[in-house]
Amino acid sequence: MPVVSSVPANSTLAITGRTGRVLTFPNGVFLAPMEGVTDPVFRDLVIALGGVGGAITEFIRISVSAMSAKVVKRYLGPPRDDTPVGVQFMAADEQHLPASIAAAERVGAPWIDLNFGCPVPVVFNKCAGSALLGKPEVLARIVRAAVQSTSLPVSAKIRVGIDAPTRLREIVAAVVEAGAAMLTVHARLRCQPYTHPATWEWLAIAREERDRQTRRIPLIGNGGVDEPSDVPRLLRETGCDGVMIGRAALADPWIFAQAAGASAPTLAQAADFALRYAAAVEAVRGRRGSLAKLKQLVRYYRAGGIFADAEDQRTQLLRCADLDAVRAWFTARTQGMA
Ligand SMILES: Cc1cc2nc3c(=O)[nH]c(=O)nc-3n(C[C@H](O)[C@H](O)[C@H](O)COP(=O)(O)O)c2cc1C
Repeated sequence: MPVVSSVPANSTLAITGRTGRVLTFPNGVFLAPMEGVTDPVFRDLVIALGGVGGAITEFIRISVSAMSAKVVKRYLGPPRDDTPVGVQFMAADEQHLPASIAAAERVGAPWIDLNFGCPVPVVFNKCAGSALLGKPEVLARIVRAAVQSTSLPVSAKIRVGIDAPTRLREIVAAVVEAGAAMLTVHARLRCQPYTHPATWEWLAIAREERDRQTRRIPLIGNGGVDEPSDVPRLLRETGCDGVMIGRAALADPWIFAQAAGASAPTLAQAADFALRYAAAVEAVRGRRGSLAKLKQLVRYYRAGGIFADAEDQRTQLLRCADLDAVRAWFTARTQGMA
């Protein structure tokens, strides 16, 4: 029978570090880390629309040396008090993790997240990311080393397994036992592409295992949240304490605000968001960067019904090499000229 979550998405959610340091999120709905997408520019624009409880940087991969504070700051952006943004590290072992975490702390990171879900072969073959789902003891050692090195809360983000979810319970128990402050579970296997439907039943299994642990930490469910109504549905069907949203934030950056009760954006608001995004990216990455990011948005975008019955126009914009022409298309929609 579905379990009703004790922490609804419109209540605060708190996590605690090893020394008792508490970090409170305004709600339990998180913007997922997405490499190449959720840089500080995109994150800040989405957070400004409301409803985001917390966010996580794109993964920062640690390999042969510790990350410098300068690099971490580039991913994190200016610290913000209203919506905590965690720094995500990915490493195959614990060697350079404490120094990297210290660097993150120096530039104002409020918490640290560890990536155990990345499926890409270049990461997997170096025994990092989702490869560690096959080695729960190494995964736990990495979490423990991170927790012991800092007073900041340390969370982990996992997929449910490599080829099968057979070790999911073992991994959940290992993460809690190692001292993590929160766990996010992406309800797909490493072998399943992002197009594969997420299996929320696996989130319920992870939640059941979390409930068996003596130390209770928040469990965040992720995968396949496409609509605002999916947020309460995931909480209801799985018993998770929070929800993390990935690609649907690109499709409709208002999904967080709508999950908190706001109305859907108008076509003009959706077009205006795209233009503001293009301008903000241009200020940091120039015209080429702006065109590339605007097209990345166009690929997913559906806010305000902007491409409803206009898929051909989406295709045309994706083929267009002229930033001004793409902007003009959106400008026309802000002015009701569409
Ligand atoms: C383009 C892209 C980049 C991603 N980069 C990261 C990352 O840096 N760190 C991470 O933990 N997960 C990453 N993910 C996984 C997402 O955080 C999330 O788990 C996944 O998209 C499932 O959620 P969704 O179905 O809501 O999109 C990425 C996903 C996508 C599509």
